[in-house]
Amino acid sequence: MTDSAGHPEATPDSPFSGCRVVLGVSGGIAAYKAVILCRLMMDAGAHVIPVMTAAAQRFVGRATFDALASERVQTSIFGEDDPIPHTTLGQTADVIVVAPATARVIGSYAAGISDGLLTATLLATRAPVVVCPAMHTEMWEHDATQHNIEVLAGRGVHLVVPEAGRLAGGDVGTGRLAEPATIFAAVEAVLAGLPESDPARQPLTACRDFAGVSVTVSAGGTREAIDPVRFIGNRSSGKQGYAIATAARDRGAEVTLVTSAPLPQPEGVREVRVTSAAEMDAAVAAYADADVIVMAAAVADFRPAKVAAQKIKKGDPGSSAEAPVIVLEHTKDILAGLGTAKPPGQVLVGFAAETADVLDNAAQKLARKNLDVMVANDVSAAGAGFAHDTNIVTILLADGTVRPLPICSKREVADAVLDAVAELRR
Ligand code: CTP
Repeated sequence: MTDSAGHPEATPDSPFSGCRVVLGVSGGIAAYKAVILCRLMMDAGAHVIPVMTAAAQRFVGRATFDALASERVQTSIFGEDDPIPHTTLGQTADVIVVAPATARVIGSYAAGISDGLLTATLLATRAPVVVCPAMHTEMWEHDATQHNIEVLAGRGVHLVVPEAGRLAGGDVGTGRLAEPATIFAAVEAVLAGLPESDPARQPLTACRDFAGVSVTVSAGGTREAIDPVRFIGNRSSGKQGYAIATAARDRGAEVTLVTSAPLPQPEGVREVRVTSAAEMDAAVAAYADADVIVMAAAVADFRPAKVAAQKIKKGDPGSSAEAPVIVLEHTKDILAGLGTAKPPGQVLVGFAAETADVLDNAAQKLARKNLDVMVANDVSAAGAGFAHDTNIVTILLADGTVRPLPICSKREVADAVLDAVAELRR
């Protein structure tokens, strides 16, 4: 159903219904996503008033917003009809959304400088403000930007943190504007007055506590060759390691993922593909100077002492030829090696895959391998371990702290592990 203006009729129970939303659009390539956001909010029944900076108009024509929004675009503090548009906009708004928010707009807003209609409106409002930054990774991670973000967050401004992915000019990294649907959900949660603990508000509360931190993560089970076609492997899916890598990335870390798992490369993460324990050892060693290392991989403890150059033949069926005996030798314990050579300040995290005496075994491994954090994982429990999307773990710290977690998603486990790491780094 559409109303007389041709817009879909508002869902009466949507928090957007009847709300006046000032949509601030500043100058970045992501300005095109604000068009979709505008449409989503209109469809949900909001009255959307676009405010564009001069730079924004270089990326998207004002005619696009003129046609889509409830009112024509406003661009100047010296309004044609309204002598003081910034106070009218600021005082009558139910919420102000800035998407994309450039480093300049964020800086001006944090410093209280009204250098145009958008920043003047932001300073002239008491309505909730949702800021959605978008910029190149270097600009986003710059101390000045992070400081400004902290200032705004401290004043109660809501933030929808940028995502990792492809940026302007083909670069890849954190700084891409969150997807319109994510911003829409975040604004909806603000309008609905949901508490910060509500999962719908996660993009608003997601923090960047790993900005500037290098994290090396290993994931997957290694494969040890018997001959050119056979190997000794294990049941690890790599999902927990990938969840740690993506969680660290989302929290601002520069992540290297050393992986033997056949999973797609997470965007914004450096990936090093390996197969055997020896390859994993070499790859991890190349990134062992990271601030944080998480060994989530299921590294083989043994490998065939000799790898046959040709496929081992089974012999004639029914013949009395005996099956071959495969002699095994120990692989190197990568994590124990990292523990021995641990530089000051580095946080080293291991995973203990256990099927019995879980906490005792995990605590012994934590001490033996000189770790800071050990994640004890009963891989035989229902809903835990290999290939599941959930896990049941207990986090052990070197000071004896024991933190059991309820059954939860591998992403939630990842965030809990990173929380423990962040505490130790403080
Ligand atoms: N690990 C490693 N190199 C190995 C074996 C294990 O780096 N050759 C790491 C794993 O990535 C994990 C931790 O050590 O973080 C514990 O692995 P786990 O398999 O639970 O224990 P092990 O030390 O191999 O001991 P066991 O197999 O006897 O339980």
